[in-house]
Amino acid sequence: MCGIVGFSGEQQAAPVLLDGLKKLEYRGYDSAGIAVSSGSTINLMKTQGKIVNLCEKTKDGALTPGTAGIGHTRWATHGAPNDTNAHPHLSNDGRFAVVHNGIVENYAELREELKSKGYVFLSETDTEVIVNLLEYYYKGDLKQAVMKTFNRLEGAYALGVLCSDCPGKLYAVKEASPLILGIGVGENLFASDVTAIVSYTKNVIYLEDGEFAEITPAGVTVFDVAGRPIDKKITRVSWDIEAAEKGGYEHFMLKEIMEQPHALKATLEPRIKDGRIVLDDCDISPEKMKSFNKILITACGSAYYAGYAAKYAIEKLCRIPVYTELASELRYCDPIMDEHTLLIVLSQSGETADTKAAVEECKKRGATVIAIVNVVGSSIARLADHVLYTWAGPEIAVATTKGYTTQLIVLYLFALYAADKLGRLEAVEYSRLLKELELLPGAVQRTLDRCRELPEIAKAIGNPRDMFFIGRNVDSAVCLEGALKMKEISYIHAEAYGAGELKHGPIALLEEGTQVVALACYEPLLDKTMSNIKEVKARGAEVLALAPEGNRRAAAEADEVIYIPSTEPLFAPLCSIIPLQLLSYYVAKELGCDIDKPKNLAKSVTVE
Ligand code: F6R
Repeated sequence: MCGIVGFSGEQQAAPVLLDGLKKLEYRGYDSAGIAVSSGSTINLMKTQGKIVNLCEKTKDGALTPGTAGIGHTRWATHGAPNDTNAHPHLSNDGRFAVVHNGIVENYAELREELKSKGYVFLSETDTEVIVNLLEYYYKGDLKQAVMKTFNRLEGAYALGVLCSDCPGKLYAVKEASPLILGIGVGENLFASDVTAIVSYTKNVIYLEDGEFAEITPAGVTVFDVAGRPIDKKITRVSWDIEAAEKGGYEHFMLKEIMEQPHALKATLEPRIKDGRIVLDDCDISPEKMKSFNKILITACGSAYYAGYAAKYAIEKLCRIPVYTELASELRYCDPIMDEHTLLIVLSQSGETADTKAAVEECKKRGATVIAIVNVVGSSIARLADHVLYTWAGPEIAVATTKGYTTQLIVLYLFALYAADKLGRLEAVEYSRLLKELELLPGAVQRTLDRCRELPEIAKAIGNPRDMFFIGRNVDSAVCLEGALKMKEISYIHAEAYGAGELKHGPIALLEEGTQVVALACYEPLLDKTMSNIKEVKARGAEVLALAPEGNRRAAAEADEVIYIPSTEPLFAPLCSIIPLQLLSYYVAKELGCDIDKPKNLAKSVTVE
């Protein structure tokens, strides 16, 4: 993963690089560093740990003067997260500095080749081969050296290059890792993500794989792999900087949880016109829709769980078999599919390596691909046949919240849209469900308003060894996401089970005081879930239940109840996930965890 940033302009580069790295820190936070050129000197500083350590070490950039530079925040792949392995890396002659996001797959053979030519390696990283290849190929023409180096690398990478012979000039190279150029006035930038750019300019260029750019204060030139200049479209970014800042909240995660009603509205409303769903960006004819004999949903992590939760609605409304498969499995499982398969792929970042590879595999086999993506212009958005954007705005906290719920609402929209195209819905039912959808952002707001007791409940939960999340039908899907949220930010072991499955094994783990979160929000199966709550209570478990408002039985069976607004049962996950997001947030907060940057994780998983 890692985040990279580069700046060339008239002002001091280091404060801009440090500011950019803070915005990219969600991508990795094992170590960080910057290299700034001042005349023919490269000032390099790097350190283990978070950006705050680097700010201290550089005295907020004062110790690394110069007006062009590159920066890096690391999520370790090759080598431990220490100062030596931190980026930027220097070439043996000290003339080049490189930052790198991705993995060079053929680094071992390149390293041996360079060693045989007398090069010495100080770190365990794959990046050091890149910077020494630059030195090796440099014969006074930086662009040629960049191209020759680029041609030798295999894998996925985005690079930033600085050379002491060319002050003020940077190169940025993209191959299968995200890289965006920011076009300013008298200053230009590159970064892994627009959040590091938007405070300086909203004009950006999305580089394609195989492209590279020369960046100076006066302008940027983009080249194809053969070094020919190419014309690139400048895109105006709609995100503003406030969207990428905490806005008074203690953590990005809490801010993003609270933003959900707004994000859901922004995603839903533009797609409903005169009582009909209009998906301009995904206009599939009724004939084409009828040609699909199965729908396959793929993604990783929470995005996969969003797909899993919405599968019920799509299948029920469209009456087409809907399968779900983890992208990391799908890419290698020789999937059976053809032009009659519709693939729905979900990704907040649009850059997840496994998800991207799964899409490439399915496209080869003839599937039509609809991508549900948050980041405009991201790799997965560009790969897909149709894109439905979630208008959630930037999601900075590593644990996704508004990314997940906006994915859900787009999937519900799609379910209704597809069912209509297939002729599977009476007009009255279509209108009823559409009205239910339109009510959801408000219902999510009401759910947030009802969660006031959660900080106290979280305090009482403390730090149990295990937690179990149980539910049936759509509730069981929400349990998967609830348990993931809990484990990733609080580090408490949390498992999700279909409530009916407990007695087939997991019930053996229940004992006096075990913490169970029981979802009884899917109203058609309420009685069944209530019986399961009784079973776990009988084994001494502490039960926090989620139930639709008006369901007083839950209060009788459980120790604590959070009531959520009663909605169309198929859409219940959109509200029932909210208390689970907040519960994990408050439990983690009580435990003093680093909520926005949980250990070992990174936001955008661009390695396999
Ligand atoms: C969990 C989480 C991850 C992501 C997963 C996919 O809170 O954020 O599980 O959902 O890594 O990421 P995207 O959606 O960017 O493809």
